[in-house]
Amino acid sequence: MRRQQVAAAAGAARWRGDGGGGAATAWWWVAAVVLGHLVSSARAGLLESNPGLAYNFYQKSCPKVDSIVRSVTWAQVAANPALPARLLRLHFHDCFVKGCDASILLDNAQSEKKAGPNLSVGGYEVIDAIKTQLEQACPGVVSCADIVALAARDAVSYQFQSSLWQVETGRRDGNVSLASNTGALPSPFAGFNGLLQSFAARGLNLTDLIALSGAHTIGVASCSSVTPRLYNGNATNVDPLLDSAYAKTLMNSCPSSSASGTVNLDGRTAVKFDSSYYTNVLNKQGTLASDAALTQNAAAAQMVQDLTNPFKFYAAFSMSMKKMGRVEVLTGTNGQIRKQCNQVNSS
Ligand code: HEM
Repeated sequence: MRRQQVAAAAGAARWRGDGGGGAATAWWWVAAVVLGHLVSSARAGLLESNPGLAYNFYQKSCPKVDSIVRSVTWAQVAANPALPARLLRLHFHDCFVKGCDASILLDNAQSEKKAGPNLSVGGYEVIDAIKTQLEQACPGVVSCADIVALAARDAVSYQFQSSLWQVETGRRDGNVSLASNTGALPSPFAGFNGLLQSFAARGLNLTDLIALSGAHTIGVASCSSVTPRLYNGNATNVDPLLDSAYAKTLMNSCPSSSASGTVNLDGRTAVKFDSSYYTNVLNKQGTLASDAALTQNAAAAQMVQDLTNPFKFYAAFSMSMKKMGRVEVLTGTNGQIRKQCNQVNSS
């Protein structure tokens, strides 16, 4: 068996909870995660210059930051398997709008939270619970923007019981949050070029687009994000980029153009952070039109094929998450360290 097949089979067995060979299975899975770390660390030199972030930024000022974020996040994820997807998307939507500055967390009449694409974003309560504990341990030290980045990593990593990627810290929190800025978020109905442009505007390239889209291996989409692919007025008019059997599955969950439910983004392994997203996309079983769009360019389609290999996916995802985590960050004396994540400091 080729290495890729071994890893995939090992992963599948782990999630099925197979008894026999469990130790070997766990070994392979840990190996995949460790290899991802090594490859992404080795390639880290390819990233653009560091904008002022550091690993262990809080080593002296708040040495317990990693353990506090992880313990709160893991406890909440253990009780709610929907949280990894929510927290990962929260980080993405934060970074794409005015950079990774926790602007998405602010509450005001016209804040980012109020914008259409953010109405289905969640996980805020986890960030608040972490912030409460951090303010007790080291008041006024750890930014909400860093908490968002760390919580996303830890939530996704829970199923591996080991960090899937490394997070640089040292971000500071922004003061501005406007729904009108959320046009920077890519549309699920965007074509390939539109997606590429949206990422390029944040300094992210084709590799990042393909790797980060793999986030859709977990989580759900509202029917309204999918039904335009399934229905056209009263007539059934299925998107030609959608497999007909999978379209029927989606129609069962979203029985009309105005249906209000949700569908899994990964129809195979909905809550497992694995590389099956890419197999789905190749089989015309990507849930969003933007997932299917990744097959509409030869170079992109080749990358999608490559990332069906879980080793390559974890390595590529790790590297691109680091890049996304650097988008337009506030560091040094810019911005502030909020006392409460949903409001700017009063003085
Ligand atoms: C490539 C462009 C992208 C588009 C057009 C897009 C669009 C969407 C849409 C429409 C949804 C469903 C929202 C709903 O209907 O309620 C969704 C869900 C999600 N997205 Fe993306 N997304 C993109 C990239 C990303 C990236 C880069 C990440 C993270 C690194 C990400 C993480 C997620 C996750 C985890 C969910 C599930 C959320 C949940 O279950 O609560 N997406 N995305």
